Amino acid sequence: MIKKLPQISEKILKEVGNKKVFLLVSGGVDSTVLFVLLNRVLGSEKVLGLHIDTGMMRLNESKQIMDFLQKEGINNLQICNASEEFLAALQGIIEPEQKRNIIGEVFLKVANREMQRLALNAEEWMLAQGTIYPDTVESGTAKSALVKTHHNRVQGILDLQEKGMLLEPLASLYKDEVRILGEELCIPRELVWRHPFPGPGLGVRVLCSDGKLMKSVGIKNNARTYVQPLLIEEDLPWEDLEKRSVDNRAAWLVGCIANKFEVVEQYCTKETLDTLRFFDDMCLSFLNENNLYNEIWQMPVVLLPLKTAGKPCIVMRPVNSVDAMTANFTKIDQNLLKNKLWPKLKEAGLGALFYDVTNKPPATIEWE
Ligand code: XMP
Repeated sequence: MIKKLPQISEKILKEVGNKKVFLLVSGGVDSTVLFVLLNRVLGSEKVLGLHIDTGMMRLNESKQIMDFLQKEGINNLQICNASEEFLAALQGIIEPEQKRNIIGEVFLKVANREMQRLALNAEEWMLAQGTIYPDTVESGTAKSALVKTHHNRVQGILDLQEKGMLLEPLASLYKDEVRILGEELCIPRELVWRHPFPGPGLGVRVLCSDGKLMKSVGIKNNARTYVQPLLIEEDLPWEDLEKRSVDNRAAWLVGCIANKFEVVEQYCTKETLDTLRFFDDMCLSFLNENNLYNEIWQMPVVLLPLKTAGKPCIVMRPVNSVDAMTANFTKIDQNLLKNKLWPKLKEAGLGALFYDVTNKPPATIEWE
């Protein structure tokens, strides 16, 4: 791979001239790499970053990034904790697309308000974005593109672009090239090679329900479906489980403390997000401890609107994919799941662990 740093640095210097640069740092790979890049190329006095804390990040993820920035002496990142605002707007909402729209809208509202508060003079400041190549060419084929479009291509941003006030130094790069650039900038591997994580974060991984039905999203004939998944209690080899999931999303029960399940009312709240954060972190640690993290493309962990003996239930969804358009569920050793992961989760207070055995299509990667 050709080293990109010298060429990109030169371009940034030329485009920025005497101006200063402001950017929103979500904590994802692209914006983190861009923030570090701008600091290296322009110096910290010419850069200002703002992180809007939506309350939907994974456990310790923000801290890991902050610790790295602090270690590097990068201290020009302001934090705005807006999690209560996001949660207030999501109260009682169940429909996945409505949740996404709300999260997108609150994000823009908070971002605009913060930019006004900072009173960044347009004569002096430019806005930078971590837009990458796939974000600019796709228009809704992948969910990520559709949603990111809300942030990266809204009218205000397009106006800035027209006036030459928008800086997008990563816009010609694919994801892997951004990661390699991150390595060139000496950002730790565990930060730059993180699995993809959706913009609305854990907000789309707390599966919401009115307490009557549990539904998950899928695709059929190129359209999104929203139907009840099939839950399989029987222990079967992966190949047999896979056969049961050809028409509909199906999840295999790895372990449970009682086999009576109750669909419960569930929304995105601080409590449900904290529960998910806790078990999600345990599942990720399991991947790391068993050298599986790099073998897997992405692994959503979803809090189901189900309880057994009053305890929460989750589903893990490890997949392998090239571009997220299609995906195969990953066949982790079933003994490891049953004998290593499940006992730990049970001890920590989980009621049941399910494992998604569906490919994409017919299911999507996320459950919402
Ligand atoms: P699906 O669930 O549609 O996901 O198979 C494909 C890829 O897109 C990610 N994804 C999102 N990314 N905002 C994002 O930025 C979203 O709302 C969103 N929904 C799904 C998903 O994690 C996977 O990588």
